[in-house]
Amino acid sequence: MVAGELGPCSATLDRPVPTVASFSGRPHPLLVHRNKSGCRVSAASQQTRRVRAATVQAQVASAEAPAIPKPGTLPPKIVNVDLGDRSYPIYIGEALLNDAEIVSRHVQGSQILVVTNTTVAPLYLESFVKGLREQGAFKVESVILPDGEEHKSLQVLQQVWDKALESRLDRKATFVALGGGVIGDMTGFAAAAYQRGASFIQVPTTVMAMVDSSVGGKTGVNHPLGKNMIGAFYQPRCVLADMETLKSLPDRELASGISEIVKYGLIFDPELFNWLEENVEKLLNRDSKAMMHAIDRSCAIKADIVALDEREGGVRATLNLGHTFGHAIEAAQGYGVWLHGEAVAAGMVMAADMSFRLGWIEPEICKRTVELLKRAKQPITPPKGMTAEQFRSFMSVDKKVQDGKLRLVLLRGPLGNCTVTGDFDPQILEDTISAFVAHEGISGSSDLPNTQ
Ligand SMILES: NC(=O)c1ccc[n+]([C@@H]2O[C@H](COP(=O)([O-])OP(=O)(O)OC[C@H]3O[C@@H](n4cnc5c(N)ncnc54)[C@H](O)[C@@H]3O)[C@@H](O)[C@H]2O)c1
Ligand SMILES: [Zn+2]
Repeated sequence: MVAGELGPCSATLDRPVPTVASFSGRPHPLLVHRNKSGCRVSAASQQTRRVRAATVQAQVASAEAPAIPKPGTLPPKIVNVDLGDRSYPIYIGEALLNDAEIVSRHVQGSQILVVTNTTVAPLYLESFVKGLREQGAFKVESVILPDGEEHKSLQVLQQVWDKALESRLDRKATFVALGGGVIGDMTGFAAAAYQRGASFIQVPTTVMAMVDSSVGGKTGVNHPLGKNMIGAFYQPRCVLADMETLKSLPDRELASGISEIVKYGLIFDPELFNWLEENVEKLLNRDSKAMMHAIDRSCAIKADIVALDEREGGVRATLNLGHTFGHAIEAAQGYGVWLHGEAVAAGMVMAADMSFRLGWIEPEICKRTVELLKRAKQPITPPKGMTAEQFRSFMSVDKKVQDGKLRLVLLRGPLGNCTVTGDFDPQILEDTISAFVAHEGISGSSDLPNTQ
């Protein structure tokens, strides 16, 4: 295949897929990792841990699920993030926001500070706070931040600490993040630093936040010199994902969250990918049952990965499939022009294309990825006008560059398998970049959702 040719969508495999025994079956090969002493943990012991996690999950489910779902709502699902004494449940359901009893179960002390933004506050803040106050035992304060990634800064975060101190909150207070990923990341970091660590609870209200940012404890703010550069790993006490809140989410925000769900299918779960091929339109139509299933599976996969590698020393990096290409797109465009999920969608197609060129996957996987992302209304190529030089320069500053060598998450083997590696022919990366920046036919505006 030659540079400039967008092969995988149409071409046939020109090299056999290597037979890599370790890439077949379960547990996922990348779940071979090192324990705290640096020893390799065997797949068998990981399997044990996964079984244990599933058992804990079942126990948590029976101990913590609301006994009776609200009339007319689906019974909630519960996923447990297994981190020893910092384990926590993710509740996924309908009408959970007004079920203040669940939140109050996880509140430490008697003081609550709800952090939200100017878009989410008029929709949900009043009823949420009312429910908590009706529990009787809590003093509930709130702070409303400006909306937008550009306000994810230390300066704006200061408002949270100002409010907490003015309200005389002590270290036992619980900070509750009510909003999308920006509010979740900021609130978590505010809690981590407040008097050296207040508790916090995530109430995500976007698909992106429900399937990704609210789970796993990465918190922080942007610095003028880099996105998410100031932050901490700090786990919430629980996560509460209420499908009802997605009803007010703009179409474009909802669709861009679906690309992270596609990511879980590609890196880990062929069944989820197959299911998405059957059901993606239901997600776009906000079907609660379908959405609950997709969020449940996504959270379970992320919970498993986080339990094995909380601080991204190994397997957690696989969650960045498409992100190195995607971050280059976001940075070249200027943040906010494309949504994160949109950039990741195009980035995943590029990663799939490169994997195919390396002979690591069948062309079918590329085709299916492109088709699914198109149906999810996501772009499948970078924006028109983006140059190969922009890709090179933004990708070279990626967090996954180690000792000057770029490492990428690439697909390898049957659907649901991937690898994090710097061990590839750099010319193949060049070929993928050239093909995608040259292919203006596919990157035409009709394929881009950002015209709404
Ligand atoms: N911590 C992590 O592991 C992690 C992972 C992925 C992304 N992130 C971060 O998450 C952020 C992106 O999150 P996001 O996509 O949720 O963006 P966001 O928080 O900016 O929310 C998107 C928009 O939707 C609005 N909104 C939120 N909920 C709504 C609702 N129910 N109805 C109507 N409007 C609503 C918001 O006010 C905002 O305008 C980025 O800052 C990214 O760095 C973090
Ligand atoms: Zn992402």
